[in-house]
Amino acid sequence: MKTRRTFEKMKQENEKITMLTAYDYPSAKTAENAGVDMILVGDSLGMVVLGYDSTIPVTVDDMIHHGKAVKRGAPNTFTVVDLPFMSFHVSEAEAMRNAARIVQETGADAVKLEGGQELAPLIRKLTQAGIPVVGHIGLTPQTFQVLGGYRVQGKTTEEARRLIENADVLNEAGVISIVLECVPAKLATLITENSNVPTIGIGAGSGTDGQVLVYHDLLQYGVERLAKFVKPQANLNESIDHAIRTYISEVKATDFPSDEHTYAINDDVLDGLYG
Ligand code: KIV
Ligand code: NA
Repeated sequence: MKTRRTFEKMKQENEKITMLTAYDYPSAKTAENAGVDMILVGDSLGMVVLGYDSTIPVTVDDMIHHGKAVKRGAPNTFTVVDLPFMSFHVSEAEAMRNAARIVQETGADAVKLEGGQELAPLIRKLTQAGIPVVGHIGLTPQTFQVLGGYRVQGKTTEEARRLIENADVLNEAGVISIVLECVPAKLATLITENSNVPTIGIGAGSGTDGQVLVYHDLLQYGVERLAKFVKPQANLNESIDHAIRTYISEVKATDFPSDEHTYAINDDVLDGLYG
């Protein structure tokens, strides 16, 4: 299996790292079979597969439930699991316990935390305890209320400076990688050039060391609206709608099931059973 060393080598050799989210057995299995470098069990699962309107309601138990299914589907792919809203803010002890539960119960290879330099002490402690940490800066959906919505981050000099500072401190604290979400491409490239560990971008242009997308966005599966930075490669909504409508109409028309999908029996077996 690929490790943090593999990803650091890929950064050095300018080989792009591909990451895709997965939330269950089939999404993980198809991601692994197609050859993604890393899987993210994102707390985006709250919106994408649980139907919440933000990631705020997602719990540690939710992450563990989905993380376990993902590892069963992708046992050989480096898998990162998100620490959800408020699971790493109440106290360091509670954060350590939650991260440990996620790693022990799901088999995750690393955890991801949204936030900047304020997390440095926790990142050090997790790393010392043996839990690799991926950082996540820029647009951090768990704090969308504080940010004032889902907007591009780092557009002013002050914001850009803060992002650069956060990336530096995360590097020093020992993260194995940093996700940059919704950051102008040139700024993401600058941060990438100054980061020892690989950056993984989403809505951050092509200059990052890797890219991550949400599985259901890539495939247009259950999602209606796509952000500017998503380039879908399939339309499962259309395929699924067509399949279900065809099923309904074939049943109504008694075209399904036909002999091909039916079990036969010799008539004499049934002779006289109803008198
Ligand atoms: O939860 C998620 O899917 C994420 C990615 C968008 C980076 O955190
Ligand atoms: Na997330």
